[in-house]
Amino acid sequence: MKIGVLGSGVVGKALAKGLAGRKHDVMIGTRSPNDPPLVAWLAKEGEGVRAGSFAQVAEHGELLVLATKGEAALDVIDLAGVPRFGAKVVIDTTNPLDFSAGFPPTLLFGFTDSLGERVQKKLPEAKVVKCFNTVPNSLMVDPVLTDGIAELLLCGDDAEAKRKVGGIVRSLGWSGTIDLGGIQEARWQEALVPLWVRAAAAKQSFNVAFTVASGPAIPG
Ligand SMILES: NC(=O)c1ccc[n+]([C@@H]2O[C@H](COP(=O)([O-])OP(=O)(O)OC[C@H]3O[C@@H](n4cnc5c(N)ncnc54)[C@H](OP(=O)(O)O)[C@@H]3O)[C@@H](O)[C@H]2O)c1
Repeated sequence: MKIGVLGSGVVGKALAKGLAGRKHDVMIGTRSPNDPPLVAWLAKEGEGVRAGSFAQVAEHGELLVLATKGEAALDVIDLAGVPRFGAKVVIDTTNPLDFSAGFPPTLLFGFTDSLGERVQKKLPEAKVVKCFNTVPNSLMVDPVLTDGIAELLLCGDDAEAKRKVGGIVRSLGWSGTIDLGGIQEARWQEALVPLWVRAAAAKQSFNVAFTVASGPAIPG
């Protein structure tokens, strides 16, 4: 599949590399495709990945991944050009984190709104699936978890798009997905992240993930 990853931070790089490793035709989008550190990364680690502007990458992808800073996500969609998203599946990995008061972050908005919903509203034809936002970039591809392989949370309004994203998630080494429902559930998927940051800080490791563990079935 042709995949466009909009965002050249650690998340964009991890997913672009992982997806290219699964033989997808991947482009990574940025405002500065010729930025020397990115060019060096492409040569050293990003085998099969090409860089381009946000517009070029949105044009390239049959499926798009949004992996920009949360507060820049809607601006990046404008830079890429709303029509280029069409009715494509868009995996939204972003979080509306607010670091204005320092670390640990809070949310820019939430509980009655979410970035996932704002992205879906801005791209009414596209099928936005919120996924990967709750785990660190270090675990997005081929996760190694001491308690076993976990499922990833996702939500979105389109069932077929969620099935498609579920296939990608499993191809990247996860055991499956937990479908929370429509894109409105992004409120809670995003709200988990400031908690994750605090739990990770307490554990003194950012290479940790929440998992939904099942106890034995309760009879009756
Ligand atoms: N870090 C993690 O482990 C992690 C895990 C789960 C979810 N997330 C979420 O994933 C997203 C990406 O995180 P990240 O840590 O990889 O990188 P990031 O530093 O949050 O974002 C980097 C990307 O955002 C773009 N960007 C930043 N400011 C911009 C602006 N004013 N206008 C246009 N583009 C702008 C950058 O564009 P250029 O390429 O042009 O510089 C770059 O591509 C975030 O929303 C984050 O909350 C992060």
